[in-house]
Amino acid sequence: MLAIDENTITDAALAQMSETPNPRLKQIMAILVKHLHAFAREADLTPEEWLDGIKFLTAVGQTCTPYRQEFILLSDTLGLSSLINALHDRRAVEHGTKTSLVGPFYRQDSPHKELGECIAESNAGICIYGRVLNSAGQPIPGASIQIWQTDDEGVYDLQRHDPSHMDLRATFTADANGDYHLRTVRPLGYMIPLDGPVGDMIRAQRRHGYRPAHIHFMIGAPGYRELVTALYLRKDDHINSDTVFGVTDSLVTETVANDPGSPFRELPSIRFDFTLAAADAIGTGRVGADPSQITKRTASH
Ligand SMILES: [Fe+2]
Repeated sequence: MLAIDENTITDAALAQMSETPNPRLKQIMAILVKHLHAFAREADLTPEEWLDGIKFLTAVGQTCTPYRQEFILLSDTLGLSSLINALHDRRAVEHGTKTSLVGPFYRQDSPHKELGECIAESNAGICIYGRVLNSAGQPIPGASIQIWQTDDEGVYDLQRHDPSHMDLRATFTADANGDYHLRTVRPLGYMIPLDGPVGDMIRAQRRHGYRPAHIHFMIGAPGYRELVTALYLRKDDHINSDTVFGVTDSLVTETVANDPGSPFRELPSIRFDFTLAAADAIGTGRVGADPSQITKRTASH
């Protein structure tokens, strides 16, 4: 019989999992156990600290609802979601617009709007326009463009209304030239939800908890890899210290006044061209999900 000590326990656990038929599950679990054990050894984790960790993760799970996903927020605030995005980008067969976080406020089935329409129930304050292109710079006609954002006070519809009420989110279809244009309000940055266990962690680490103002996009077309990204507004105070590490330089933009190319020249405008990479065998690029879908999936298993 193997003598179990702080080192041999790792091999014992790996040996017991070695018959896992699914090769990818076997690989992922083996790497997870190795790193989890190495973490405990390096931190010299005490029983009290281990139990604190269990309590924390329990509270994270208990905070999840069909409209709130505390685990995604935890992943985001630890930089894991951004890391998964970076790994996903690295696997692309072609260069495209960089990805960014889905975040916890994405909803499936946002209302379809015609090009030029305003996604906000309040008056439009800015215009966003541009093209959806392939990696050769050619337009992708009919690309689907989902957009969602906060209002001018930094609040998502899910936080302000009952869940059936959708505002500041819509789905557009690019025209035959791959062009899109729409109107919206200038979003305000916001503090991530801090009334749960992730908030306790953020406060314990003396972090400010803010995300800079941004506009989320999910763009897709047959034959292309779905692009999940966001545009970040340069003039935000927290543009260099996003709590969830979503900002990257190529996604930072700002409105321009009197832009002669804008279809709504009277509005401050953002022009941004999105580039989709060709589809590959890899599945979704969504690091995040509609929270209601996760609850559904969990319940059905
Ligand atoms: Fe967001």
